[in-house]
Amino acid sequence: MKITAIYGSPRRNGNTARLLQSAVAGARSVGADVTEIVLRDLKLQPCLEIYACQKDGRCAIKDDFHGLAERLLSAQATILASPIFFYAVSAHVKAMMDRCQSLWVKKYRLEKKSYTRLDNHKPGLFLTVGATHGRRLFEGAEMSVKYFFDTFDTSLWRTLAYRGLDGADDILKHPECLAEARQAGVELVEMGQFNR
Ligand SMILES: Cc1cc2nc3c(=O)[nH]c(=O)nc-3n(C[C@H](O)[C@H](O)[C@H](O)COP(=O)(O)O)c2cc1C
Repeated sequence: MKITAIYGSPRRNGNTARLLQSAVAGARSVGADVTEIVLRDLKLQPCLEIYACQKDGRCAIKDDFHGLAERLLSAQATILASPIFFYAVSAHVKAMMDRCQSLWVKKYRLEKKSYTRLDNHKPGLFLTVGATHGRRLFEGAEMSVKYFFDTFDTSLWRTLAYRGLDGADDILKHPECLAEARQAGVELVEMGQFNR
């Protein structure tokens, strides 16, 4: 099973990165073929809203988005990790999401699929961390992820969200969270196999 794992934090070894490393280890332990993508290492411009994609669903900006889009479309499951920045995903993740407007245009405008029901079969896992304890801390990010996943036929299967973690190593004081992420990686593979 092919899985794409996306590191969305600017911190290479911060809290969400370590959660994602655990989920990747879990998925690999049950045989998944995981490709890891570190967004901060890609050349990825924000969307310019020129809608060149309305011609054929391809984004006109020439950068690393095209390889990334192929990965998203061809994977059988996706894991995305992002810290909460101002009650949203990181800027790196948001740039990727906005570029996926080209996939949205292809799916809903050019191929005219109905978006009244999201009934995708590929599972997606979202891992996120915030420093504070607000009740609604993850709502904005989770909604963005749900609709981002849909552009490549993926459903938000599970979110693991942890509050009160700020320092880069804070997650290490919570091995139970890392274990939960690892287990989610295992179950994601099982979900994907079940749905095929
Ligand atoms: C630009 C920026 C904005 C942030 N905004 C929030 C926020 O709105 N709410 C919150 O609880 N934490 C916020 N934080 C804290 C991060 O979510 C927190 O440090 C998290 O552990 C970072 O995860 P990482 O180590 O994976 O990057 C912000 C941090 C930065 C750098």
